[in-house]
Amino acid sequence: MRDRKRPVRANPRAVRTRPSFALTALVVLAGAAAGMGVAATGVIPSDLGALGLRSGPAASADPGGAAAGGASTSVAPITAPDGETIEPLPRVSVSPGLDLDLHSLDDPASPWVVVNKSRAIDPLTWVPPELDSDGGAPMVPEASLALAAMRAAAADAGVAISVGSGYRAYGSQRSIYSEYVSRWGRARADRFSARPGHSEHQSGFAVDVFGSLGCRLKACFADEPAGEWVVAHGHEYGFIVRYPPGAEEVTGYKHEPWHLRYVGVELATEMRERGIATMEEFFSLDPAPEYG
Ligand code: DAL
Ligand code: ZN
Repeated sequence: MRDRKRPVRANPRAVRTRPSFALTALVVLAGAAAGMGVAATGVIPSDLGALGLRSGPAASADPGGAAAGGASTSVAPITAPDGETIEPLPRVSVSPGLDLDLHSLDDPASPWVVVNKSRAIDPLTWVPPELDSDGGAPMVPEASLALAAMRAAAADAGVAISVGSGYRAYGSQRSIYSEYVSRWGRARADRFSARPGHSEHQSGFAVDVFGSLGCRLKACFADEPAGEWVVAHGHEYGFIVRYPPGAEEVTGYKHEPWHLRYVGVELATEMRERGIATMEEFFSLDPAPEYG
């Protein structure tokens, strides 16, 4: 298994928060209080709010704010049982946020698997153990269900989302890539088509969607109702636009507004709320503009 780098490079936007951080802060505060003669402060999880510690998801409550990074504010002086007034402890606002170890970034069966030009799918000829087409194209069941739900919600809102390619086998990707290379040349093809073994489609977690046939697999999809709808609501169903605009140096690909990647509601929402558009940046992985 590849090691996750923490962090590979400074990324001021990718602030990490973990349950262990909150617990550590709690223990430190409680321990300090006990050591200062205020052990009877009743520091239990339900009191997190009183200490400025929250046990619920942070991002939705305070995206990018104190909860994202852990800020300190002052609190009123504390009077100990023996009448002594002690200096206030800093109030630390931290939040558990998303457990970044919840899913593997390497396991091709993981909804968080990161596949790019420097991270081939492993094993190279991986085939998901289960696929279904509830959403309109073969995907792993969890992603397929999410796609079906997303399309239904969009339809309710009067927006038709059609589905193109879902899961693609290693051999299919090889044929597609070869075709593009013969037509456009390798350098150009590499900007919009993955080499076999490097496509997210092989994981079964990616899908290409479209609105009109005229804008299928084209930049103009972004300006269609379906393209706008997936940007606004995709995260509610666990999808991100995996190759966002202006990120070619990170993802290795030009903007593909149609290529959606299922990562689950938690991660998709967290990425959106923190304003981190790529998996590479969110997980502090090396950018992958080229093949290694
Ligand atoms: N178009 C994306 C990069 C793929 O071929 O997987
Ligand atoms: Zn795609």
